[in-house]
Amino acid sequence: MNVDSHDEGEWWRSAVIYEIALISFQDSNGDGKGDLAGLIARIDYLKWLGVDAVWLTPIYKSPFRDLGYDISDYRVIDPAFGCLDQFDELLKALHAEGIRLILDLVPNHTANDHKWFVESSSSPHRAKADWYIWADAAENGGPPNNWMSRFGGSAWEWCEARRQYYYHSFLVEQPDLNWRNPQVRAAIAEVMRFWLDRGVDGFRVDASAVLIKDVLLRDNPPNPDAAGKPPPQRHTPVFTDDRPETMNCIEFIREVIDSYPARLLCGEVQGETDRIGHFYGTERPRLHLPLNFALLDASWEALSLQAAIDAYFNALPEHAWPVWVVGGHDKQRVASKIGEAQMRVLAMLLMTLRGTPFFYMGDEIGRKRVSIPSDQVRDPFEKLVPGFGLCRDPERAPMRWDDSPHGGFTTGIPWLPLERDCGLNVTAQQSDDHSILMLFRGLIALRQEQECLRQGRYVPLRSRDDVLAYKRTSATNEILVALNISAEPRKWHWQGRYRLLMSTYLDRSAQTLPETSILLRPNEGVVIAIDIG
Ligand code: NOJ
Repeated sequence: MNVDSHDEGEWWRSAVIYEIALISFQDSNGDGKGDLAGLIARIDYLKWLGVDAVWLTPIYKSPFRDLGYDISDYRVIDPAFGCLDQFDELLKALHAEGIRLILDLVPNHTANDHKWFVESSSSPHRAKADWYIWADAAENGGPPNNWMSRFGGSAWEWCEARRQYYYHSFLVEQPDLNWRNPQVRAAIAEVMRFWLDRGVDGFRVDASAVLIKDVLLRDNPPNPDAAGKPPPQRHTPVFTDDRPETMNCIEFIREVIDSYPARLLCGEVQGETDRIGHFYGTERPRLHLPLNFALLDASWEALSLQAAIDAYFNALPEHAWPVWVVGGHDKQRVASKIGEAQMRVLAMLLMTLRGTPFFYMGDEIGRKRVSIPSDQVRDPFEKLVPGFGLCRDPERAPMRWDDSPHGGFTTGIPWLPLERDCGLNVTAQQSDDHSILMLFRGLIALRQEQECLRQGRYVPLRSRDDVLAYKRTSATNEILVALNISAEPRKWHWQGRYRLLMSTYLDRSAQTLPETSILLRPNEGVVIAIDIG
């Protein structure tokens, strides 16, 4: 399939989306960092795996203090990754294979060496003076209020040239843009058009919930649940995060997207599950897919998972399309949290729920957190707020393609170390019919084959005895999914004639089931379909 024509409307409803942190995917020139040429060389793998779209973390020019989420120039590819010509080559090659490309859009902040900030911080009288969030000192000369950076300390930084403070939600080197300024909106819209015109299929909007901060600069109240939490969580961020005015900014971004056919807007949102509906919008559309981490946040227990799934579906506005995420560059590897056998069950859950599945490079080989020696830590979060287990490097370690010391990722020294245990790698798992990689691939193919899994209704069944169960139904088909969440065998019953489509063990062959029950082995999930033959 060639996707150049973008004629498939809401293609993301049927898509499986794969997140890639480019710096850790495949190095092509031995500098220890992944790059565009490396990714181009791995398109065959993406095709083999069966993913429909790739979301790339930022690839723009950046000092890389925060994995590229500190952008110095939105229209330039960072030289460590390649150049625009290579980007165009990548896009063309992906599209030729029917794979779409989503870029990260970081509208909330730039790097402090971005020319906009250089101008804005030089004087209160320059044209871009109001492009960032500037405020006078408090009477005692200190920061204007008690707002804290997510990465620790005050969110205000003194600027001697302006004799004012500027606001940064994240690092001191990541000043927040002023989204109340129409010129800023217009500038970000231009950036979006620059990439949309090149043919990208959409954006994942970074930090979309914090675009607007309280205009009165009111202090955040103390967090009653702060005990044991990292210092940035000392306050409840009601005046900095998820302000109602922010929604208008997301609507603006969506309008830009909607001026192009078939482009996707997904986004990082925050807050409890019951807030997620707001990010879809009603009269004015907002995000197509606000990213939902409910499966990661729930404890690995049938009733908790069932409750988390139910709460999420209940929170969705009518006609909103669901989305499920099981990994990401900010999230601790779920295989470390729940275990290897359980990760297989989670893969089946992800690929059989109603909604667009997202997973992160390495999840498909059951990758776990890589232990990073303290002298090799790169993540500023860990450096600034140590001791709370916040370090994101363990998830960001380079992809493991084979069992060589640097995993086939680089011929040089990898920018972050890889684990010593080489069992979990792509090459080994590609030749093992029962590997988790083969399971991911098989599940993606099954989803592709079974329209009912992509578009059918979700019908919960009563989960008991540690078996999480549900149906997917369409006018012509009915599929049952039963996931044994325990490490003990469990019997599971149904009524009617069904045939087995897949077991997470990948060893039961597709067959008509002779009985109306099955003994699920420890951590076994099965997908069965009504037998109409
Ligand atoms: C959200 C990104 O996912 C995270 O990695 C980054 O540190 C912050 N935004 C700041 O840009």
